[in-house]
Amino acid sequence: MSQNTNQTPDKATLIIGEQKFEFPIYHGTEGPSVIDIQKLLSQTGYLTYDPGFTSTASCSSAVTFIDGDAGRLLYRGYPIEQLAEYSDFLEICYLLMHGELPKLSQRAQFSEHITYHTLLHEQIISFFNGFRRDAHPMAVMVGVVGALSAFYHDSLDIHDKKARDTATYRLIAKMPTLAAMAYKYTIGQPFVYPINSTSYAGNFLRMMFAVPTEEYIINPIFEKALDLILILHADHEQNASTATVRLAGSSAANPFACVASGIAALWGPAHGGANEAVLKMLNEIGHVDNIPLFLEKAKDKNDPFRLMGFGHRVYKNFDPRATLMREMCHKVLDQLGQQDDPLFELALELEAIALKDEYFVSRKLYPNVDFYSGIILKAMKIPTSMFTVIFSVARTIGWVTHWREMISDPNQKIGRPRQLYSGNVERNFIPMQNRK
Ligand code: SDX
Repeated sequence: MSQNTNQTPDKATLIIGEQKFEFPIYHGTEGPSVIDIQKLLSQTGYLTYDPGFTSTASCSSAVTFIDGDAGRLLYRGYPIEQLAEYSDFLEICYLLMHGELPKLSQRAQFSEHITYHTLLHEQIISFFNGFRRDAHPMAVMVGVVGALSAFYHDSLDIHDKKARDTATYRLIAKMPTLAAMAYKYTIGQPFVYPINSTSYAGNFLRMMFAVPTEEYIINPIFEKALDLILILHADHEQNASTATVRLAGSSAANPFACVASGIAALWGPAHGGANEAVLKMLNEIGHVDNIPLFLEKAKDKNDPFRLMGFGHRVYKNFDPRATLMREMCHKVLDQLGQQDDPLFELALELEAIALKDEYFVSRKLYPNVDFYSGIILKAMKIPTSMFTVIFSVARTIGWVTHWREMISDPNQKIGRPRQLYSGNVERNFIPMQNRK
């Protein structure tokens, strides 16, 4: 923890009845300070209660920082706007993993580490044949990523640094290959092997869309747009899927199993599944004239409908990623001559109307990273079912970085939350003949 740079106190006093208890306060380099309540139960007999962890820091981390009120996002201290402008996804992977931007030689070596592992063990291909062709690609990803631990036995020992590094490189390198295979399998086309001379994003596009019968030319507009989407989705503090990966990792599960648990958690429409849900919602709204009806549905507590791509646990201002994504939307659609894309027009109108609506304004509900990403992916002819898969490809570096940080934390222990029990008090078993 950093030293107390501002004048907030270094300890908190809790008064319960006649008793006073003191707990240390730690200050981060940015963001809210924390009250260390690790000894609360042993000292007071009380637990804290925080479903959804709205006021709970689960760990100390140096990877990413979100300033939700100001709408700021830093990867290892660098603002996302600068990284989006000047960097690329593979360099961001190095930055998140090592904490610093790579020098030229480090960048070249890291790229070799990744391209060395882009191929899969050939037997993994047979896993896909076990799925129906209409399986959701996320179901396939959960299955095949978890199965990697059945093939790469030399990178399972979490206490061995070399094994951890190899597992990290394998996961970053193989996720695009697996994701493209998950797509190819659903459309019955042959799998396309990676070509290591292409960029990370270009390789993925090629594995997604190339066919053996023709040469595939990577579209530079799509390559740049996809690289930006990967950068913007790379990491985001202790979001639901990253917290899941940390919890799985805290039991000393192997890294492939941990990332598979992250993919499962990301799939939910309240989290990474929102990008797919946004496009479905825009298609359901269909026309600007229908926006007021859907906004009313979103406000109606008796209606499960939510404005997908809106709202965020941490951002109470614009998600900076949404702003960058909207700018990329404009650029990609202009370059494709699709300036008047009806879905983009509808999304812009929906955003404008919602941000004038008291319900959304009073709750500080702004567009999040998922609101515009689907429009770009759709323009790139990527099917909706692959949107969250692409999110999982990008977030893998975030997941493995947090997994590495957790493993190397000397204070790390298995995560085991407690509960407020609301069930039956102790009672005796009732033999069948006495049950009424
Ligand atoms: C991601 O955590 C991360 O960092 C996630 C992520 C990452 O990079 O890892 O940023 C990626 O998951 C982005 C979020 C994608 N999900 C969606 O777009 C789904 C729609 N959004 C909502 O489900 C919701 O906003 C959440 C889940 C994102 C946040 O939920 P919270 O923090 O639990 O907020 P809440 O449910 O307590 O909402 C507060 C109020 C409630 O109304 P009241 O009870 O005060 O009357 O706002 C309302 C909610 O009903 N509300 C919405 C809404 N989001 C919140 N009402 C309508 N539409 C919405 N989208």
